[in-house]
Amino acid sequence: MLSAAVNSLKHAVPRCAVSSRLKHTLPDLPYDYNALEPTISADIMQLHHSKHHATYVNNLNVAEEKLAEARATGDVSTEIALGSALIFNGGGHINHSIFWQNLSPNGGGEPTGELMSAIQRDFGSFENMKKTLSASTVAVQGSGWGWLGYNKAAGKLQIATCANQDPLEATKGLVPMFGIDVWEHAYYLQYKNVRPDYVNAIWNVANWADITERFNKARQ
Ligand SMILES: [Fe+2]
Repeated sequence: MLSAAVNSLKHAVPRCAVSSRLKHTLPDLPYDYNALEPTISADIMQLHHSKHHATYVNNLNVAEEKLAEARATGDVSTEIALGSALIFNGGGHINHSIFWQNLSPNGGGEPTGELMSAIQRDFGSFENMKKTLSASTVAVQGSGWGWLGYNKAAGKLQIATCANQDPLEATKGLVPMFGIDVWEHAYYLQYKNVRPDYVNAIWNVANWADITERFNKARQ
């Protein structure tokens, strides 16, 4: 699972050259911090992006630096011990990089075209997909994510949940389409303990253009 997670990172997130090593960087949001109001407050967006996501990026870079040192000295024990830090922080970086793109101030409504047809084929109706994903996501115990993903082998859309920051593709084999972050840092300042209200509201800013692009790419 570790090598799969590291491979996902290579493809999923932007990197830039710093000295002789490649470091991950915090991607800019494609909109202002207050752009998703009233669904998600500016306070939440600012903390979530500039503090929480930034911490995953920083800690991922630290873990990768330690991994490189361990590899250079043939320290396999340390390489193995770094596995959980790579999954947690690498997953946090992958998940949030997708999440920002999955949302839009111009979002909401329903998808069209082949994505809508696939949703109707695999879930019966758009409303049923929405209801099932919302219920699964609300039911995540503790911190985690709910996902609409694409199963390439089966050629169909599926719903899955992941604990903590486990990345969907590396741990469940599904290509991420739409993720709902249900860590308390994603909603508590605004929705307090009422996670269902946050999950129901997030559909108002779901970026179907981005989700459709991921769906089309996954099927290539
Ligand atoms: Fe988050």
